[in-house]
Amino acid sequence: MSILVVRQDEKISDWVSALQQCDPEIPIIDYRDSHQPSDVKMMLVWKQPQGIFSTYPNLECVSSMGAGVDFIFEDPSYRKQIPMTRVVDPLLVSDMEEFVSAQIYNYLKGLHIYTGNMQQALWEQKPYLRKSDVSIGILGLGVLGSATAMSLSKQGFKVQGWSQSQKIIEGVSCYDGTALDVFLSQSDILVNLLPLTPQTRGILNANLFSKLPKGSFLIQVARGPHLEEKDLLEALDQGQISGAALDVFSQEPLDKNHPFWTHKKVLITPHCASISAPSSVAPQIIDNYKRLLKAQTLLNQVDTVKGY
Ligand code: GLV
Repeated sequence: MSILVVRQDEKISDWVSALQQCDPEIPIIDYRDSHQPSDVKMMLVWKQPQGIFSTYPNLECVSSMGAGVDFIFEDPSYRKQIPMTRVVDPLLVSDMEEFVSAQIYNYLKGLHIYTGNMQQALWEQKPYLRKSDVSIGILGLGVLGSATAMSLSKQGFKVQGWSQSQKIIEGVSCYDGTALDVFLSQSDILVNLLPLTPQTRGILNANLFSKLPKGSFLIQVARGPHLEEKDLLEALDQGQISGAALDVFSQEPLDKNHPFWTHKKVLITPHCASISAPSSVAPQIIDNYKRLLKAQTLLNQVDTVKGY
């Protein structure tokens, strides 16, 4: 029995070696190498080739290499009765907290404006904001959302969060499903950390933007398809949204001709807010494999009905 590692970029070898180092006794297989499909008990995947799951008759667990699992649900060959797990990792959490904080401070102090001004040797002081000037709204209070909300609150920001079901987080005003409009009306900076499900696809749209205070700033660090890109461009042009830091896109890499690249109010990063570190994540994958062998409850299991 083995763990099959599936990923279509060069990072696959880092994952294979991290797992091998973690437990040299367990057969770890790169999916491109020859192997017997019936031996595969567990698959560790990231943006796998579509249809791959139907090849493995004895699959008992599919693990995502990251926090998100949307790309597994979207594969028609994945059957919901196969348990699915995702990564919950302290580095993934602190990386996200740091990235969102960096974007917030960049926005408050207008640092990206000065980067632009340097191209023209332009010496021009701009007004700036302070923590006390803004209220931050975190959309999605899962592992990453609640940790980010808590971290920002500890840094002295006024923070509120919204999630489908009611949460209680120290220092954070939590709103649930029914109170989205109230939450939005108080979010000067909106951070999207929702899971991507059929319910949340396209949630960042004109209707949602219209409920934010005029001139709000958007930080999009979840999944590209949450955002209606045309609606954002319109909201930016109308000044309803004053700027956006976008880390994820419906199509990645972002097309070279996409209007976001040249938009003055948009800051683009290449899906790098928080990236799983194989050596940090490997122990929980190996632990889950051993749990599978002993028919024990898996760590970080995804609710395949809810989709996150
Ligand atoms: C990154 O996007 C992840 O899901 O971990």
